[in-house]
Amino acid sequence: MAASSLRGRDFLRLHDFSTVEIQTLLDSAIALKGALRRGEPHPALAGKSVALIFRKPSTRTRLSFEVGVHQLGGQPLFISGNDLQIGRGETIADTARILSGYLHGIMIRTFAQAEIVELAEAASIPVINGLTDDFHPCQVLADLQTILEHKGRLAGLKLAYVGDGNNMAHSLMNGCARMGMDVAIAAPEGFQPNPTFVAEARRANPGGQVLITTDPAEAVAGADIIYTDVWASMGQEAEHAERVERFAGYQVNEALARHAKPDYLFMHCLPVHRDEEVTADVIDGPHSVVWDEAENRLHAQKALMAALIG
Ligand code: CP
Ligand code: NVA
Repeated sequence: MAASSLRGRDFLRLHDFSTVEIQTLLDSAIALKGALRRGEPHPALAGKSVALIFRKPSTRTRLSFEVGVHQLGGQPLFISGNDLQIGRGETIADTARILSGYLHGIMIRTFAQAEIVELAEAASIPVINGLTDDFHPCQVLADLQTILEHKGRLAGLKLAYVGDGNNMAHSLMNGCARMGMDVAIAAPEGFQPNPTFVAEARRANPGGQVLITTDPAEAVAGADIIYTDVWASMGQEAEHAERVERFAGYQVNEALARHAKPDYLFMHCLPVHRDEEVTADVIDGPHSVVWDEAENRLHAQKALMAALIG
């Protein structure tokens, strides 16, 4: 499939993309990574401008998008969400129409998924989800690239996610199920993933497994990848102390990792709280691929922007 079939599309959640479309993006990300290493230019966004709107903090997403647009020959425009007139009551739909007149693409990190859906419906240019309370699809695109590079395949592998059933858990279920992987999520009662998204993931991979459990050892049993994320996401800072108590027993450590395959990969979207959701010996140990994973944000998002906006 040619990447041009993705031109003009929004990237709001991985569930909206087929297995072939995701594979096309991953192949392109790996090719762009090689081209960058060889110093070959790829000016897919020459003459184009992309807004990067952040209503939550960011290190990786902001930097990888800014550098990525620059490397593709385009103009990245960083906008702190608080600086927009949205903060003074201008509607999302009006903002979308205005931005569509100036720009060629919008990446936005915000709170409610409904906000990004409203923006995408009113905009005539592609909108990319740079994280909402429900999803983080750009991260999972880079995660799938990382798994493919380290394991040589995706279908048939098992990813175990231990921790909060949050935006990362949802997007991992979306993306891994689409690519034919088994997914197991271990989260305490009250913090399990949204059942609607669990059902969608099960439909996306009828021959595979999407297991939701409260038992981390059951989730990690035989896993090829162990994944975790912070226990208190952006916007939940006030719940941090309570969550540390509720998530006791869900730490990824050497004892838990012994249930996985001997050649398991450890992954984390970052930022990490060492010795909270994962011990330092695991995230800094030989199974960890978190630095490749973070670097791949750049390559995966360049592939995405080149396909959607280029
Ligand atoms: N993983 C990730 O999205 O990191 P940032 O919050 O730093 O962008
Ligand atoms: N679940 C985390 C992911 C950060 C990349 C958050 O939403 O803060």
